[in-house]
Amino acid sequence: MCGIIGGVSPSDITSTLIDGLHRLEYRGYDSAGIAVVDLHGRLARRRAVGKVAALAGMLSDDPLHGRVGIAHTRWATHGRPHTDNAHPHMSRDSVAVVHNGIVENYAALRDELTAEGYCFISETDTEVIAHLVERQLRRANNLREAVGAAVQRLEGAFTFAAVAVSEPDRLVAARQGSPLVVGIGDAGCFVASDTYALLPVARRFIYLEEGDVVELTGNSFRIHDAGGRLVERAASEVQSSLSVSDKEGFRHYMLKEIHEQPDVVARTLDTWLEGGHLNPDRLAPHARALFAQVRGAHIIACGTSYHAGLVARYWLESLGIPCHVEVASEYRYRKQVIMPGTLLVTISQSGETADTLAPLREAAGKGYLASVTVCNVPNSSLVRESDIAMLTRAGPEIGVASTKAFTAQLVALAILALALARRDGDIHPAESAWLHALRDLPESLRTLLRSDLGLDALSSTLSRGNHALFLGRGIQYPVAMEGALKLKEISYIHAEAYPAGELKHGPLALVDDAMPVIFTLPQDHLLAKTCSNLKEVQARGGRTMVFADDRAAASLQGNGDVVRLGVVPEPVAPIVFTLPLQLLAYHTAVVKGADVDQPRNLAKSVTVE
Ligand code: G6P
Repeated sequence: MCGIIGGVSPSDITSTLIDGLHRLEYRGYDSAGIAVVDLHGRLARRRAVGKVAALAGMLSDDPLHGRVGIAHTRWATHGRPHTDNAHPHMSRDSVAVVHNGIVENYAALRDELTAEGYCFISETDTEVIAHLVERQLRRANNLREAVGAAVQRLEGAFTFAAVAVSEPDRLVAARQGSPLVVGIGDAGCFVASDTYALLPVARRFIYLEEGDVVELTGNSFRIHDAGGRLVERAASEVQSSLSVSDKEGFRHYMLKEIHEQPDVVARTLDTWLEGGHLNPDRLAPHARALFAQVRGAHIIACGTSYHAGLVARYWLESLGIPCHVEVASEYRYRKQVIMPGTLLVTISQSGETADTLAPLREAAGKGYLASVTVCNVPNSSLVRESDIAMLTRAGPEIGVASTKAFTAQLVALAILALALARRDGDIHPAESAWLHALRDLPESLRTLLRSDLGLDALSSTLSRGNHALFLGRGIQYPVAMEGALKLKEISYIHAEAYPAGELKHGPLALVDDAMPVIFTLPQDHLLAKTCSNLKEVQARGGRTMVFADDRAAASLQGNGDVVRLGVVPEPVAPIVFTLPLQLLAYHTAVVKGADVDQPRNLAKSVTVE
């Protein structure tokens, strides 16, 4: 999704901005641009479709120099990826802006500004912001007031940063809808969509609140809140462990992140265990008292995080806790019935997903007992705005397709399920077996990652086709959904997941020798049922690929590829079975020569609806 970086520095800022854009690349984008107030006090701009490297190449041929500037990676919403649509957008060579979000009333504003003689060059909604600021600047005393006045006219999500030739020593930015962080360092003051973009130049960070407008100069900053009052916001130091490391010898970030999962699981688990036992006080000081009142949970999330929520539903229900799970973008616009004692649980790797954030913000006054978020980014909006934050400790995830963040979410959700299942202080009878399986999990995952699963042949088969079906029953159904999502995200192969029992009600019609059908087969109470579904596929000439627990594999006869995953304890089966499916998608994408870490059209942090 769009990434913003900008700043004011005592020295040339161009290379800092380009380095920041590289750091924002993981968010997903299709074009990039930069504008600086140059040493002659004029606005100078370069824009390029494609990778930041293309923009950097353009700058080495035709450099820019300035101490105040803004830069942007664009993820197209209004208007195709094209140089004219890339940010920064300018008005009358005197104002430049970069924007993240969607201006919902842009059409009316465009008409109004066109009637006043403003000329529109792009198809974007953003260009109205540049013209509005330029118009207000003629009426206001300074850029900050002009930005503040422009904000009053905008509807929707419109976090943006602006520079103007009339004030060549400053940058003004507004937060509305998507995050913006101020970074303070020796080399100046900066703003960016996330801290990662600023790690080389800043150590102190201030996370702006909704409605805030910040004004930066080279050595100071001032924040005004939505009401125009000058405010102080807490600053935090970011630990060096948050730095984005390199690929450490792996060919792609995604592969590196898949291999990090044993450590991620161990680290995440440690957060809430003490001496190997669950300590609910570690979730929050008031967690025990609060959880005693919980009668059910509503889980809201998107994408991979939604799949984590679906797995959690099976866990919670198996422990006696009613649970409803829904995709956030649907949940938000439905009339919800909230029973007393319902806990709202949001799940998000980024903590900034607009679709997930909105239901949390709208939850107030609807009767929820409290809100819990399972999130991978400290200081993100979801973390700051939830009653309890369960931080997963996956570390920065660079691959757009989520892997380690997903398994970390599952660990957190298993812990949440166990904590909620304690009644009147009594430990649920299943808790000890669950914790045993969770404690052993990092080592099982290490063993799995070290073994040769023989995925090369399967990946090459998948890469030759255009479709695949993923089937699982019970708690393996969301695992199949996640496997299908991984494959389509990074290899662009159409993959659908079905509950295996539903096969005969439609998708069986798709099965022929050109349709790979991927099964997950744990040793559980549904084994015999899933085996029957497998037979149904094989009887129709379908090409099956089965990921199986060793014990389940023993009961398989006949043809088809079988990948043995060892003896997998039932409580952790969703996590263990996820890993080979991630690897299958990864290797298939590599065979196809796809851009594994930055798949086309996708964004890591989706801050618009
Ligand atoms: C985007 C990402 C997905 C992610 C989804 C939800 O679509 O590409 O990988 O699952 O957003 O993101 P969240 O940050 O809320 O988990």
